[in-house]
Formats: sequence, structure tokens, C-alpha cells
Amino acid sequence: MSETPNNIHPIFSQLLQRSDKQNLLKQNAVCIWMTGLSGSGKSTIAQGLEKRLYADGFLTAVLDGDNIRTGINNNLGFSEADRNENIRRIAEVNKLFLSNGIITINSFVSPTIDIRTMAKNIIGEQDFYEVYINASFEECAKRDVKGLYKKALNGEIKNFTGLDAPFEAPENPTLEIQTTAQSIDESIEAIYNFFIQKINTNN
Ligand code: ADX
Repeated sequence: MSETPNNIHPIFSQLLQRSDKQNLLKQNAVCIWMTGLSGSGKSTIAQGLEKRLYADGFLTAVLDGDNIRTGINNNLGFSEADRNENIRRIAEVNKLFLSNGIITINSFVSPTIDIRTMAKNIIGEQDFYEVYINASFEECAKRDVKGLYKKALNGEIKNFTGLDAPFEAPENPTLEIQTTAQSIDESIEAIYNFFIQKINTNN
């Protein structure tokens, strides 16, 4: 086998290229990476954004805890090491989707700057857009959609993000959405308006 730079296997140059797939799909692929506390609104926004883009004819893949942690990552918990492995695998999955021209919409707590930097490095800085879905711990605990905050505050869940495990807000996100201050529809509109420009090939 001939030498290949940067550990890139020759198969990647034999396959159809990302540009071929993007031409077929008439879209530019991007990775939309939402980070924020559990219950901040990431999954709801991801679902709404996907529907808007689908209506416009764009192909997306939503990746979030519910489809990832029950499948490919069902052997992982919430220790620091498991969260790292969770995000590492998700980032690799993102890479595969992007190389097929597919827009990815991610909603993961991804609680530390280090963990999100790892994701960015795997995915590639040019494709990675960090979106901070900002709602305070108190607000998320008040919403408590899944009943997890009640359990965590009672000591029934350990390593809970924002309580006894850290959450580091992004220092310089591409976009910040305050879900306490605006409605779900307004949040979806804001994220859609930002990304449609990047996705649209007519620009
Ligand atoms: S991450 O930290 O590894 O990025 P991920 O986004 O996959 O987390 O999963 C977070 C979801 O798992 C939360 O929305 C919540 O529903 C659930 N969960 C269960 N236990 C915990 C915990 N200890 N900390 C945070 N989220 C938890």
C-alpha cells in the first residue's frame, strides 16, 4: 500500500467526494453543534430546525442523546471518561455525515470547553458551528421536562450536569440562543435564519 499523508486511508480518494454529494443534494453541509444544560431546549430546537430545513428541501441528520445513547453509545454513562467517549464517537459520526454532504444538527450537553474542542478538532474547524442554548440551571430545574432535576436534587442521580458535574458555557459561540427570554418558535427562527445562508448554495 502506498504512503498516505495524515493517516488518510486511500479509500477516501476512491469514493465519490463530498462536493459530488453536495451538488446532488444542492446544499452546503455544516455541523450545527448545540450545547447547553439538560432541559435548555436543544432537542426541541433541533427538531424544529430540521422540519424547517426539510420543508426547504435540505437533507439533515439530527443527532441527540435519545437516538445516540440508546443505540451506538448505549454502553456509556455520565462519568467524565464516558462523556468524552460519547462525544468522540458522535464527532466521528458527524464527519461521516458531512463527507456525504449531509447537514448535521447535534444536541448534546457536551459540558466542557475541552470536550467541545475535541469535537471541533475531529469534525474540522471550518464545518463546526457552536450554538449555545442558554437557560439557567434554575430555569431548567423549574421546567424539569424529564423529572431528572428532581431526582438529581434528591441525590438519586450522581454526576448531574450543573449540580455535581461541571458545565462550562462557551466563551465565543457562533450563536447564542436565550430560551428563557424567547419562545420556541422564535428560537427556531433565529437559528434557521442564521444557518440558511450557509446551507444555501445560491449565496
Ligand atoms: S454529554 O454530557 O455526554 O454530552 P448527553 O447530551 O449525551 O450528555 O446526554 C445528556 C442527557 O442525558 C440529558 O439531557 C439527560 O436527559 C440525560 N442524563 C442522564 N443522566 C445525566 C447526568 N448525570 N448529567 C446530565 N444529563 C444526564
